[in-house]
Amino acid sequence: MNNGFPPGSPAFPSSRMRRMRRDDFSRRLMRESQLSVDDLIYPVFVLEGEAREEAVASMPGVSRVSLDRLLLVAEEAVALGIPALALFPVVDAARKSLDAAEAWNPDGLVPRTVQALKARFPTLGVITDVALDPYTSHGQDGLIDDSGYVLNDETLAALEKQALCHAQAGADVVAPSDMMDGRVARIRARLEAEGLIHTRILAYSAKYASSFYGPFRDAVGSAANLGKGNKYTYQMDPGNSDEAIREVALDIAEGADMFMVKPGMPYLDIVRRVKSELQVPTFVYQVSGEYAMLKAAAANGWLDERACVLEALLAFKRAGADGILTYFALDAARWLREKG
Ligand code: PBG
Repeated sequence: MNNGFPPGSPAFPSSRMRRMRRDDFSRRLMRESQLSVDDLIYPVFVLEGEAREEAVASMPGVSRVSLDRLLLVAEEAVALGIPALALFPVVDAARKSLDAAEAWNPDGLVPRTVQALKARFPTLGVITDVALDPYTSHGQDGLIDDSGYVLNDETLAALEKQALCHAQAGADVVAPSDMMDGRVARIRARLEAEGLIHTRILAYSAKYASSFYGPFRDAVGSAANLGKGNKYTYQMDPGNSDEAIREVALDIAEGADMFMVKPGMPYLDIVRRVKSELQVPTFVYQVSGEYAMLKAAAANGWLDERACVLEALLAFKRAGADGILTYFALDAARWLREKG
């Protein structure tokens, strides 16, 4: 009698992998990756006006809020120990234009919001998005020529002004998400020239032309402007991986401090490659479409929201992410605290 093992083999498995899985204490001791509140960045949408709150239909639980309400959200984030917010503006249609000039208006929605957040919560990290899509009448991230092609070098000049405007308002981190070539170098040089040597740059280095951004474009109101347009001439092709490594390497050389892979879950292989091959602070964005999928399944009772969200966030850590932008940040922070 040998317990059903093939003839000639020992009567017991030489390694019992299940031994360490048997009890909670040994599972905890051998767990390689941990998720903590320190890993979370909360993306928020800010609107003009006062006492305004608008739900985003395709992102249940996410609202666009005016500054007074945003301060309450920020207070909650601080109380939960979330290190930073990522700010996205919803710009009134009247302020959108072909030249996107509102993007570097020192009295614009973003600089005013940054000032208010930093005044009230000096220790909360404030990250601003550097890209023209909230400000262009066509919804592209850059300036376009007559054929609709997004112009690289002309856009760089605009991004430089936008990043400077955010940094002067007190943003701790400027995050170019536009995918123009050479933007990190331009922004870095300008910040240095202006004496803003502490402003960090979070480069959206490996940003893919993804269809998972749909709900976000609803949230910031760029979907209608973009219409049938797409971003294939500047965001990365989803089939590529080596190109992501090259993009991150360029942004390292250009002086970025942090490096983003976006979207998240379908691109875990890219997160792993960036971390293993380049050993830089690696961030990942669990984007609006990923959020919408999890919310929709949970709302139908098909998935356990809390368990699946915490599993997805832990998987980002396992893949090598140092930090995660997630619309679940507040919930995740609460769940982690309860577990604590
Ligand atoms: C645009 C921008 C996008 C997102 C963040 N900044 C969308 C896009 O590239 O069209 C998407 C974020 C999300 O889907 O959650 N600069």
